[in-house]
Amino acid sequence: MRINLITVLYFKISSFKKNDIDSDVKIIQITHENAPFLNTFVKNFQTMTFTSLKPQIEHIISSTEKTVDVRLKNICELLEAEIPYYNWVGFYFKNGDKNELKLGPYVGEPTDHIIIPFGKGICGQVAVSNKNFVVPDVSAQDNYIACSMTVKAEIVIPIFVNNENIGQIDIDSNTIDPFSEADERFLEFVCKKVATIL
Ligand code: SME
Repeated sequence: MRINLITVLYFKISSFKKNDIDSDVKIIQITHENAPFLNTFVKNFQTMTFTSLKPQIEHIISSTEKTVDVRLKNICELLEAEIPYYNWVGFYFKNGDKNELKLGPYVGEPTDHIIIPFGKGICGQVAVSNKNFVVPDVSAQDNYIACSMTVKAEIVIPIFVNNENIGQIDIDSNTIDPFSEADERFLEFVCKKVATIL
C-alpha cells in the first residue's frame, strides 16, 4: 500500500498531464522523514522504467518490416506513453546539405517549427555544439523557440552517424526541472540505436 501511494504521488508530481488521477489519496505530506525515501523511490522507479524500455527500443529498431519513419514514430509513441514527464517527443534531422534542421517523426502537439536554422533555439544550438542540452526551465533561456505555453523544460540529445551530428531527439516536458543524468544516459542509448538504422 505504501508503494502504491508513493507511485501515485510520483505520477502527480512528475506529470501535470496526468493530474486527473487520485480519488482516494487526499493528503500526502512530504516530510523530512520520508523525503529521502521518496527520492530513492523515484530514482529506482526511473531506473526500472529505463531498464524495461531498452529492450522495447531494440525491438522497434529491429522491426525491419517497417519503414525507418514508422519505427522512429513508434519510439516517440513509446517514450511519450511510458515516461510521464515526456510530453512532446520528436526527431529533427539535418536537412540535406543545408545548415538547418527539419522535423521528422514526432508525438505531441503539432508544431510550426518544421525547419530550424542551425544555432537557433535549443535544437539549433545542439546542431552546432554536438552536445546534450538539458534545460530545466525554458523561461530562463534567451535562445529558445517556444512551441507551446505548457512546456516548462526541454532535453535535446544529438544523434551521431560516423561521428557526424546528423540529427537529434527533442523532448519537451510540462513539468519543471524533470530531467536527470539517468534521462541523458537513456536517451543516448536511444540515439545510438536510432543511428544504426539511418
Ligand atoms: N523548443 C525547441 C523548438 C522545437 S519544439 O520544442 C518542438 C527549441 O528551442 O529549439
